[in-house]
Amino acid sequence: MSILIKNTINQEGYFITKVDISKDLAQLKDEFLQICGEVGTPISHDAKGSIIWDIKARSDDMTDGVVTFSEHNLEADLHTDSQYSEYPEDYFALLTLKKAACGGGISYILKVEDIIKELGETEKGREVLEIIQTTEYPFIVPNVFKMKGETEPEFNFGPILKNGEMRFRVDTIQKALDYNPDFCTEQQKEAFDYLVNLVRTTKYTKKFFLEDGDLIFINNKTLLHGRGSFTDSNRHLLRIRMNKHDKQLKLA
Ligand SMILES: [Fe+2]
Repeated sequence: MSILIKNTINQEGYFITKVDISKDLAQLKDEFLQICGEVGTPISHDAKGSIIWDIKARSDDMTDGVVTFSEHNLEADLHTDSQYSEYPEDYFALLTLKKAACGGGISYILKVEDIIKELGETEKGREVLEIIQTTEYPFIVPNVFKMKGETEPEFNFGPILKNGEMRFRVDTIQKALDYNPDFCTEQQKEAFDYLVNLVRTTKYTKKFFLEDGDLIFINNKTLLHGRGSFTDSNRHLLRIRMNKHDKQLKLA
């Protein structure tokens, strides 16, 4: 099964299967971790070393600063996870324990290869393709990953597209540019705006609902994901991030 999952997420960008979620939560978490360990090497979400992340909407005010999409219930634009980090995780998995009963929370996915294909269709698009691969963009680090008391914003820089893999989230780039417009040239900003518009309007985006018990694996480098807004505060998912098993070997 894990070979099939790995092959599919490497070729198609995602894989969905069904899990029996009627057992108790601790046992379910153990099983979830075991499956993920066969697909990749599970990695922690934070400085405390937590491997399994409970995704529930936070109720406090989130209008100030940048929070992760897993913490709020608003529309989440198509993005890749951890785009601001030195090495974004290769894969992640989401297990739906309780979908949003309000009818919201629809999932969106978009393959990076389809973005490249659409950009390649026009001269302007090909220009944008060149810029996002050969210049560095700023990514602001979300508040949740900063140490307590640390107030200075932190940034990482890198190309949006490299070797067919993407790091992309509109607001972490936009907020970095709002903080320091000199992080990018006008040409880079124009290319970014063009890309954002394409990602938001392309016909290649697929939409579907994750049901209770659905387990989805996502290739975080070759597939963008997003989610519609929801109002049900009982929505509950579990997430595990993974790197490829051979990632260390590749770096050595
Ligand atoms: Fe995400």
